[in-house]
Amino acid sequence: MHFEFTEEQEMIRQTARDYARRKLILDVIERDTHAIYPAEHVKNIAELGFFGMTVLPEYGGVHTDTVAYSLALEEISKIDSSVAVIMAVHNSLTAYGIQTYGTSEQKEKYLPSLASGEKIGAFLLSEPDAGSDASFQKCTAVDKGDYYLVNGVKNWITSGQTGSIYLLMAQTWPEKGHKGINALIVEKDTPGISLGPHEDKMGMRSSDTHSVMFTDVVVPKENRIGDDGFGFRFAMKLLEGGRIGIAAQAVGIAAGAYELALKYAKERKAFGTEIINHQAIAFKLADMATEIEAARMMVLKAAWLKDQGKPHGTESAMAKLIATDVAMKTTTEAVQIHGGYGYVKEYHVERLMREAKLTQIYEGTSEIQKLIIARAISR
Ligand code: CAA
Repeated sequence: MHFEFTEEQEMIRQTARDYARRKLILDVIERDTHAIYPAEHVKNIAELGFFGMTVLPEYGGVHTDTVAYSLALEEISKIDSSVAVIMAVHNSLTAYGIQTYGTSEQKEKYLPSLASGEKIGAFLLSEPDAGSDASFQKCTAVDKGDYYLVNGVKNWITSGQTGSIYLLMAQTWPEKGHKGINALIVEKDTPGISLGPHEDKMGMRSSDTHSVMFTDVVVPKENRIGDDGFGFRFAMKLLEGGRIGIAAQAVGIAAGAYELALKYAKERKAFGTEIINHQAIAFKLADMATEIEAARMMVLKAAWLKDQGKPHGTESAMAKLIATDVAMKTTTEAVQIHGGYGYVKEYHVERLMREAKLTQIYEGTSEIQKLIIARAISR
């Protein structure tokens, strides 16, 4: 057991914290209100290396460990989860997927522009009728010899519009069920791809979310990841790691709301004293601090397991389950502590509460995490 961060982990955390507190904070309310994509921030944090965190230096990345990556996501999420989710999907799913399972040609072709942030990655698994039940893929990738012909619709795609390198899951052999699914790298400007309207989300409003339609899209065979039929297991492997990132994001949202509530409670006076001197408020803050720390420990443990190359699927599901619940509870309490001020945009906590809700839904709902955990403990 070693509970101290390395110098590099501390440095990455500090870099993320500085950027979030100096820059992201400045326009976060405006971007949230008008659902404005954070293009300038994406460019800036890419320059800091944050879009190449899962890519090896030989392909232009900075390749940090998962602990450092989680700390960076936490710090950014304290201020702005929209930026964090763009970063998380890009790093944990698209870039990591190609880095870990791609051929050397695929890595050489796609990783440098992903690592530099010149191109943003997206992950296309969910469909109108396949969210939690991810193996029920209706999007087809028909084997035509040296290419696949793709038809179908993907839903809820983070960076569907701004992303330009898609990792697509589609069914090639329906008779084989999940073993017939393939994972394909698809460039967004391929003819036959169109987008649905911008989703007007409750939270994380400045990341773009779209459905993506495929009509007779030709994808070369060399863009398939892994063996024929590897697509479902590939997606599950990626989500195991991806959920650590979302759990870190949830810890950040909770911690951001807690910090604001603590500051407010030390300044705001009622009944002749700062409200932190009332146990009704102090006990809420004590619960918040304790629960955030517990969730953070679980995130870091899952991250550490992944870094050691050990199984981490159950631990990442547990971390996501607890961290996202803590985020929801903490942000709700932060609004409560702020009273009426908490219900208006200027004080940030209502936005953090809206953001927290999404962490309980994407990359597997809380119910899916319980299913994964229940299956693991009953084996
Ligand atoms: N690693 C490797 N293989 C795995 C695996 C894992 N973590 N999990 C499952 N598999 C394998 C199983 O071993 C099994 O293989 P065999 O048939 O060879 O034994 C196969 O996959 C099927 O497994 P299950 O029977 O467990 O599959 P299931 O249909 O019951 O589904 C599930 C399991 C956990 C519910 C899965 O469907 C799931 O994770 N659903 C949620 C999907 C999800 O998280 N979607 C989020 C979309 S991405 C997103 O949100 C990105 C964004 O833009 C923000």
